[in-house]
Amino acid sequence: MTTPPTLAPATDNTPTDDGPVLRADGVTMRFGGLTAVRGVDLTVHPREIVGLIGPNGAGKTTFFNCLTGLYIPTEGTVSYRGTVLPPKPHLVTKAGIARTFQNIRLFANMTVLENVLVGRHTRTKEGLWSALLRSPGFKKAERTSEERATELLEFIGLAHKRDHLARNLPYGEQRKLEIARALASEPGLLLLDEPTAGMNPQETRATEELVLAIRDKGIAVLVIEHDMRFIFNLCDRVAVLVQGEKLVEGTSDTVQADERVVAAYLGEPCDGAPGEAEAAEVAAAEAAADAVADTAAHTAADTAADAQNTPGTTKGEAP
Ligand SMILES: Nc1ncnc2c1ncn2[C@@H]1O[C@H](COP(=O)(O)OP(=O)(O)OP(=O)(O)O)[C@@H](O)[C@H]1O
Ligand SMILES: [Mg+2]
Repeated sequence: MTTPPTLAPATDNTPTDDGPVLRADGVTMRFGGLTAVRGVDLTVHPREIVGLIGPNGAGKTTFFNCLTGLYIPTEGTVSYRGTVLPPKPHLVTKAGIARTFQNIRLFANMTVLENVLVGRHTRTKEGLWSALLRSPGFKKAERTSEERATELLEFIGLAHKRDHLARNLPYGEQRKLEIARALASEPGLLLLDEPTAGMNPQETRATEELVLAIRDKGIAVLVIEHDMRFIFNLCDRVAVLVQGEKLVEGTSDTVQADERVVAAYLGEPCDGAPGEAEAAEVAAAEAAADAVADTAAHTAADTAADAQNTPGTTKGEAP
């Protein structure tokens, strides 16, 4: 892939202190009897790329929804640059967290450029009347927004499709457009939920470079992915969620070497883990059933042989 063009920073993403950009403390999310996320702590520091992995249904997207105010966590808090966030999506975006969705959410009948402009609305001050009256202030803000959106489209490599309808883009480009729209809100932290799903290997490698370029702009990234190569190539740190709980957290090497992670993905019990006893019981029961079946087969064969050898009982033989 060609190196993405540089992107002029619209906001200063330089950390104001050494603290984390994001801090999740004891985040729990229950749906009735199901605990989808259980007491998860996670921090993301400035200029870090952190991966969040785990098997299907582990609670990764639910955790993102808790971070972005889409869900109100049953327990726990989420802070952005030291301030606890209210669980309201628009306030979370305004504070500086942007996201993309696992199931792409674009305005299908709007153009590529318009989709990016929508992402800028939290950063424009012009109100409804100003827009309706097309005041000089509104026109200036509109021009600035369009320039910025164009810059973003150049950055992600979609400038040549700015007037295409979003629904006409191939799947991989729709995912890129989602990233551009998220960046339009000028975040300090970008959350990506499966950014390479449905992409071919070339598109996936290009997305890797794009994420690195985003980080180089001073934006921290928290990314959910099932593509392990993508995660281990890219991330400074990886956290593993299994059944709603954080099982392991560490560098790519640490996580790859942890047998509990492999076991969680393969669904194999670890040594001594619950499940081993049940597996042994099942094996014993199967062996016992086989033994009973063998005995029954032998008995039936013996009975048939006895019948053959008994005089006067064989079919067709005169008494
Ligand atoms: N709104 C909801 N109401 C009830 N249950 C939910 C809701 N959202 C998620 N869940 C449940 O929470 C659990 C975690 O789901 P989640 O989508 O967070 O998993 P995931 O790790 O993102 O999985 P995947 O890798 O397949 O995307 C699942 O059992 C799911 O059915
Ligand atoms: Mg998910």
